[in-house]
Amino acid sequence: MKYDIKDITLAKQGQDRITWAEREMPVLRAIRERFRKEKPVKGYRIAACLHVTTETANLMITLKEGGADVTLCASNPLSTQDDVAAALVKFHKIPVYSIKGESNKVYYSHLESAIKTIPQITMDDGADVVGLLHSKFQHLMPEVIGGTEETTTGVIRLKAMEQDGVLGYPIVAINDADTKHMFDNRYGTGQSTIDGILRATNILFAGRKVVVSGYGWCGRGVASRARGLGAHTIVTETDPLKALEAAMDGYDVMPMAKAAKIGNLFITVTGDKHVLREEHFKAMPDGAIICNSGHFNVEINIPELQKMSKSVKEVRPFVMEYHLKSGKRIYLLADGRLVNLSAAEGHPASVMDMSFANQALSVEFILANAKGLDRKVYSVPREIDREVARLKLKAMGIPIDTLTQEQSKYLVSWQEGT
Ligand code: ADE
Repeated sequence: MKYDIKDITLAKQGQDRITWAEREMPVLRAIRERFRKEKPVKGYRIAACLHVTTETANLMITLKEGGADVTLCASNPLSTQDDVAAALVKFHKIPVYSIKGESNKVYYSHLESAIKTIPQITMDDGADVVGLLHSKFQHLMPEVIGGTEETTTGVIRLKAMEQDGVLGYPIVAINDADTKHMFDNRYGTGQSTIDGILRATNILFAGRKVVVSGYGWCGRGVASRARGLGAHTIVTETDPLKALEAAMDGYDVMPMAKAAKIGNLFITVTGDKHVLREEHFKAMPDGAIICNSGHFNVEINIPELQKMSKSVKEVRPFVMEYHLKSGKRIYLLADGRLVNLSAAEGHPASVMDMSFANQALSVEFILANAKGLDRKVYSVPREIDREVARLKLKAMGIPIDTLTQEQSKYLVSWQEGT
């Protein structure tokens, strides 16, 4: 078996952590039990490009139990947990190509290694595998039956490809499931972003002026958790609806040009590029900390920051001090990459349970419905979404009401008024 990981001797530690995460993933565990018996993905080659974490490991093991031939590569050069990669190779015989801190060149060579397995299903987090298959590896596209995409940024890319008529095979947008974005993006990103910042810096949030840029599901989560820790929280937005929502949720809303002068911790979660740039670095107070929790490391214009600096040095793991020519210091966390996955462990297993349950069930859905699917981006079927919610509630021991016959009838009638 071929693979490329940092250190196989880390496998035992990785396995212990995978087992720990599994305890918090009851929905995926239930799916794994069924997959073990029914083998719904038997013999299919799956190339997964996901953050290599304990939670992802549990998804990979589930797919393998379902009979698939899985290969895993990282979806970000800094998010890999090397012990998890080692455990997957050593104890589960799953080929893994990922090393924390790998260069961009190695990152892409790892993607290529996964693609060279000639996948029938692709599983992306950020659409990098899809991108490569549609460019350098077009000749392998006829082999692909379908794919899944985990994240907002990836789904945006794929929808643009569909619009342009270039998408080569059907892809299920996992992010569109309510049981994904309402929980993973909001509570997962909310908590893990703060976790990454705390582990990197050990700063106090209480009383800090925190600027959250972007008020999508992730931004909502980050802002609410920052406020919960006592930070004075400011939101910047470009979308009037989201800005209005942030204002009515009780945040200060203002343009970044103004927020830059006030904030001392900046968190970008917009999915767009150069949200923090020269004009903002110039306005920030001395000692400002800046970081990103959006998918790509483009939200902070690092080359501009570099150009404005007379020196750059690492002052703690994941903390780079940019000493500007003006004399001011700005601290960049995790090289502008996802701070939650670089400086911490990503989202807790309990929310990834739902995201990855959607992944496993969507792969099963694609294979069962392959003939009827076009080269389009599909939402996760509503039945899957509701089933994931039902299973999660059951695992949490939360029973809910059911509609009476009278109530069900009322909801589909129009005759009854006041
Ligand atoms: N994305 C965010 N958190 C994650 C995690 N723990 N595992 C995999 N992907 C993630």
